[in-house]
Amino acid sequence: MQTNVLQQNKSLRFEESEKMISPVLKAIYIRRSIREFTDAEISIEQLHQIIKAGMWAPSGLNNQPWRFAIIKDSGVKEQVSQQTHYGHIVRGANALIAVYLSKDDMYDAVKDHQAAGACIQNMLLATEAMGLGAVWLGQILKNKSEVNRILGLADNFDLMAVVALGYPLHHNQKSGRKEMSELLIKQV
Ligand SMILES: Cc1cc2nc3c(=O)[nH]c(=O)nc-3n(C[C@H](O)[C@H](O)[C@H](O)COP(=O)(O)O)c2cc1C
Repeated sequence: MQTNVLQQNKSLRFEESEKMISPVLKAIYIRRSIREFTDAEISIEQLHQIIKAGMWAPSGLNNQPWRFAIIKDSGVKEQVSQQTHYGHIVRGANALIAVYLSKDDMYDAVKDHQAAGACIQNMLLATEAMGLGAVWLGQILKNKSEVNRILGLADNFDLMAVVALGYPLHHNQKSGRKEMSELLIKQV
């Protein structure tokens, strides 16, 4: 299964990924944003496992400021889909996990937002490791109050992202990265 994913992934050379012994490194390099899904169901247990991976991200003072909302209901999903330009992705996903920061549990805005990012990335890597697909949706944040209203959540929960999940329809996603030489600003 994993080998098929590796072979189908155009972003990483097959020989390169095959040499990677660590499943963590494999997941990091093979993961792509998945925006098209099959109709197959993701179970609540699978969604809990993905959230658990998020919960085990590091956070400043281990304050764990993240909170999660699971959306499986198609009516609610439809309402959420209307809050983003990427509504077609939301509609096609089997489940959504909205990731929040609890304002009451924050201690430092920058560090708490960094923790939320680590949490979401953990969730994406867990999704990859489980043979599922996901995409991190951020454009929807422009309507975050409306999303809270749809979900009946108070504004002390600050939406960080909606993760759309499902079984990947294909693995044809291409993505690239800048050269390290462009990014490495100092090496002494
Ligand atoms: C903060 C953030 C916001 C994003 N928002 C969206 C979004 O609204 N819609 C979307 O299709 N992808 C979104 N993405 C996914 C990026 O487009 C994607 O990660 C990037 O193009 C690299 O592709 P890859 O994830 O396949 O490597 C977002 C990613 C991040 C980290």
